[in-house]
Amino acid sequence: MQLGVNIDHIAVLREARKFNYPNLIDALSIVERAGGDQITIHLREDRRHIQDRDVEEIVRHSVLPVNLEMAVADEVVEIATNLRPHRATIVPEKREEVTTEGGLDLLQNFDRVGSVIDKLKSADIEVSLFIDPNLEHVELSKKLGADWIELHTGQFANIYQMLYSNLPHSHHSIDSLQSLSRKELEQKLEKTITNLRESAKAGKRANLRVAGGHGLNYQNIKLFKSIDEVEEVNIGQSIVARAVFVGLEEAIREMRKLLES
Ligand code: PXP
Repeated sequence: MQLGVNIDHIAVLREARKFNYPNLIDALSIVERAGGDQITIHLREDRRHIQDRDVEEIVRHSVLPVNLEMAVADEVVEIATNLRPHRATIVPEKREEVTTEGGLDLLQNFDRVGSVIDKLKSADIEVSLFIDPNLEHVELSKKLGADWIELHTGQFANIYQMLYSNLPHSHHSIDSLQSLSRKELEQKLEKTITNLRESAKAGKRANLRVAGGHGLNYQNIKLFKSIDEVEEVNIGQSIVARAVFVGLEEAIREMRKLLES
C-alpha cells in the first residue's frame, strides 16, 4: 500500500508563530528518504496552515508527486491549474470545522464538482474525490470522470479510538459516540469497515483507483490495511504527532513498516 504523507501539521506548527520555521521544504527530502510515496497538502480557504507560497514551492521542489487537497472555490482551482500538482483531491470545506468532517456531497454539488474536474483535467491533473464510503458516491464519482476516490476513514477512526484507546475516559471523548456501549461500538465498527470494503471493491470494479484517509494512525492502520482494494493511504496528523517524539524520518518509517507487515 502506497503512503502519502500529509505535511499540513508541520505548517500548523509554523503558523502558530507566523514564522519561517519549521520549513516545509526540509520535510520533502525526509519524506522521500523514509519511504513515503507522495506529499499531500491541503490549501484550505482559510489558509490556517498551508499558504499559497507553500504550494508553489512544494510543487516546484518535491521529488515525490504532490497531491493537493482543495475545495471547489474558484481561487483555489485557479492556483491548482496554474501550478499543476500531480493530483488534486477535491474535499468539502467548512470554515469552522476542526478538520475535514465528511465526504463530498456529490448529489447536491454534481454540476459544480463536474466543472472543476473538467478544469483540472484540462490542466492534466489527476483528480480524486474525497467521499464517504457508500456505493452511491462511488457511482457518482465514476459518472463525474474522477480517476481516484479517497474514502473518508474519519468515522472508522473515531469508532476505533472509542473502542481501543483511552479516549472515552479523557476530555476529548467523541460526543456523538459517547452514549454507545462497547457492543454497539463493535457493531458500528464492523459496519463501517464493511462499508469501506464494499466501496473500495465497487471503486475497483468501476476502474477507479482507491485511496483512504483521515484519522488513520499507528493502531487502526492494522485493520484498515486489510482492505486489499485500497492502493494508497494519506496520513498526516498521527505521523507529525509521532515525529515530535521520534523525528519525522523515524515516524514515517514506522508507518511504512506497518503498511508492509
Ligand atoms: N485525506 C484527506 C482528503 C484529508 O482531508 C486529510 C486531512 O487533511 C487527510 C487525508 C489526512 O488526515 P489526518 O491528518 O487525520 O491523517
